[in-house]
Amino acid sequence: MRTDTGQVFRLEDYRPSDYLIPRTELRFVLSPDSTIVTATLTIRRRDPSERGAPLTLDGDGLVLRRLELDGMPLAQDAYAATPDQLVIHAPPAQAEFTLAIETEVAPSQNTALMGLYRSNGVYCTQCEAEGFRRITYFLDRPDILSVYTVRIEALRQEAPLLLSNGNPTENGDLGGGRHFAVWHDPFPKPSYLFALVAGDLGVVADHFTTMSGRKVSLGIYVEHGKQHLAGYAMDALKRSMTWDERVFGREYDLDVFNIVAVSDFNMGAMENKGLNIFNDKYVLADENTATDADFANIEAIIAHEYFHNWTGNRITCRDWFQLCLKEGLTVFRDHEFSADQRSRPVKRIAEVRTLRAHQFPEDQGPLAHPVRPRRYREINNFYTATVYEKGSEVVRMIRTILGAEDFRKGMDLYFERHDGEAATIEDFLKAFEDAAGKDLGQFALWYHQAGTPNVTVTSSHDAAAAQFTLQIEQSVPPTPSESRKRLMHIPLAFGLVGSDGRDLAYAAADGAAVEDGVIHLRKRRHTVTFSGIDERPAISLNRGFSAPITLSVEQRLEDQLFLARHDGDPFSRWQAFNTVMTDALIAASRHIRDDRAPPFSPAIAELATAVLGDDGLEWAFRALALTPPGEADIAREIGSNIDPDAIFAAREALLRGIAQVNADLFAAAYERLADSGPFSPDAASAGRRSLRNVLLDYRSTLAGGADLAARHFHAASNMTDRAAALTVLAHRHQGTPQALEALTRFEKTFSSDALVMDKWFAIQAAAPGPAAVEAVRGLSAHPAFSFGNPNRLRSLFGTFFSGNQTGFHRADGAGYALFAETILEIEKRNPQVAARLATGLRSWRSLEPKRQELARQALVLIASTPGLSADLSDIVERTLA
Ligand code: ARG
Ligand code: ZN
Repeated sequence: MRTDTGQVFRLEDYRPSDYLIPRTELRFVLSPDSTIVTATLTIRRRDPSERGAPLTLDGDGLVLRRLELDGMPLAQDAYAATPDQLVIHAPPAQAEFTLAIETEVAPSQNTALMGLYRSNGVYCTQCEAEGFRRITYFLDRPDILSVYTVRIEALRQEAPLLLSNGNPTENGDLGGGRHFAVWHDPFPKPSYLFALVAGDLGVVADHFTTMSGRKVSLGIYVEHGKQHLAGYAMDALKRSMTWDERVFGREYDLDVFNIVAVSDFNMGAMENKGLNIFNDKYVLADENTATDADFANIEAIIAHEYFHNWTGNRITCRDWFQLCLKEGLTVFRDHEFSADQRSRPVKRIAEVRTLRAHQFPEDQGPLAHPVRPRRYREINNFYTATVYEKGSEVVRMIRTILGAEDFRKGMDLYFERHDGEAATIEDFLKAFEDAAGKDLGQFALWYHQAGTPNVTVTSSHDAAAAQFTLQIEQSVPPTPSESRKRLMHIPLAFGLVGSDGRDLAYAAADGAAVEDGVIHLRKRRHTVTFSGIDERPAISLNRGFSAPITLSVEQRLEDQLFLARHDGDPFSRWQAFNTVMTDALIAASRHIRDDRAPPFSPAIAELATAVLGDDGLEWAFRALALTPPGEADIAREIGSNIDPDAIFAAREALLRGIAQVNADLFAAAYERLADSGPFSPDAASAGRRSLRNVLLDYRSTLAGGADLAARHFHAASNMTDRAAALTVLAHRHQGTPQALEALTRFEKTFSSDALVMDKWFAIQAAAPGPAAVEAVRGLSAHPAFSFGNPNRLRSLFGTFFSGNQTGFHRADGAGYALFAETILEIEKRNPQVAARLATGLRSWRSLEPKRQELARQALVLIASTPGLSADLSDIVERTLA
């Protein structure tokens, strides 16, 4: 474990390396406890006239066995080797030389799952961001691009399959039961994209013919006997390849493309060149074991990693500060892919819900950082919702500002200019500026400035003059180490909706640049006057969520209700209903805190009636519209002095209120939407299931709810319906015979399927109420649970810390005590996962004072533990700062 040194890395300190590594030859002699790695590096001075600089290679916990320079052993005093560094004091004078480095690593003891490790007996690697230095000494930084040739030797019986990046060039027998394979990747790449897999796996093979007619062999490797679960992933891969050719003109460039699913993985997946390695959760699926959400995630992540081949691999990042260059852009690309494959409005709503649930709290709390951070202590802690999701929103805004055509021109120019390079955000923006002839100088603040901008809007209508005026003001709240903010360029898509539900045409708009239905805010205040507006319109703002901001609009409930029924922009229509419900829930939670019964306007239940009955709307859209904001969403909107119990009670009361009014309608729709015909994971079928399951959630609040959910559970013919029913039973009908029976049945049926057991753990970890702390503690001793597996940790503890508002934030602080104890325990094996789970308390300052103090004590307890990892101390110290 790399303990915290307190070292801070700063963007302004970037300078190119004195040395380059044009060629890297690796030889692995694999064995679980002692793998020998020989790296033969061709090293070149960047500036041949510069001499004398020592060569410093990165390491992390390495054991050096042998070191040769140009074939000769190096004298003891010519170098200094520690586990974390190798320094050659005075490299030879010539421009190019070879360094042969032999290290020894123990994959079976690598519990951090960075570098070379074993997952279920399979050797695999994870090198991003700084895992390669756990394999050999190297210039382990993304601007060092090298051509790799990799030779792997292993026992044939243990590892009949030997994979690395690029194309296979050679393989053969070594005698004594051993064999070897050689892989060559002609594309220069940074070390974080290196990968190796060796083991005994089954394969699903296919092929793809690219737009220029090249045939590519595709392979998805999974545990033997699980091939039937990889079909959906393979289909998603082929669709991704076709889509990237059609939409971005990007063609695949090697003879093979392989994906390997492993069961122990710190993140979702990894885009290693030609050899993507996946958390098996994002590969394996069939109707019996995966929910519709799982299918959608698999499709999106397969696409994401594939799209990295151009945005990330062919063009990589100059340094880790530029992480959003590949991640934000690639998330944008996978979002667009899913929107094209499924329903664009539904996808957009889901994206915004995710952004608000994960990125907004980050941006509004102690861990806030710009999309392109300026400093970090541990880079692994910057694989965040801000870099990924807000990074994607920023790319989306570029497209909004430029228009689709100039956006594509800018992307083409970016690929043309920087293919084969390690680039920066400045390079990226310049390509768009040059392609479109536009200045993105002010816009670039979206990359540099943290915090969620707020836009306040008031309006007035002058009937006599037929003028409608908007007063718009922007502000960016202070964030850690950025107290003064500059004014941003915010593209605000809008519509003025008339009483017939149509957008009103206006003769002119003055006071801001208004183009194609977008107001471009650039100043603190804008007064925008629309002329030719006879009637007072309802204003529909931030359509399609054109900017990742919060809006404070002075708007009457009637207008919101009107927009929820008539707004021509589907996102804004969903938003209007969501705002109505959120406002009602905030008011209701206040009532509950004051021991008063919460009142709900009958208009909300009527709106639900109207939305459900509107057959012009997709099922999935109706499901999203009818889903009330989650407890965490409500808490975020309230912002401070949070009492999770009051929020929970308000939400239950709203659901019950709507369900009572609509009892007959919901019952009839529930029956009508029942399964017919064979299962299909397509978006329309998934939408039907999701709407029916939302109705189940409502109906289960009424008398007979537990029986209804139990029937739903037992009748379910797929995991989506089964998990939805189990959730209702385990949450709303906790402790009932129906709930206990369903939990037991589920456990018995799926006890040998780890990914399904994750759902069983997660559903129980999210069960509201004070009993959850003990339940989670008990579940951590369940035979199917393991502290060594990240998926298990995330499903049980991750869900509890981040997804159980009433249970985790129990008033007596027992949840926080479990938090501190667990995170310290996990850290011993896997600091990266511990640090990620520790972000579960990032919003502690918005809690009511008593909980706040208890949460602080838990964080302090962690922070004051001696010998903390860099990963965890970075998170807890920033959280407490
Ligand atoms: N690049 C991977 C992706 O596609 C994520 C890798 C994250 N790795 C890490 N150690 N933080 O999103
Ligand atoms: Zn990525």
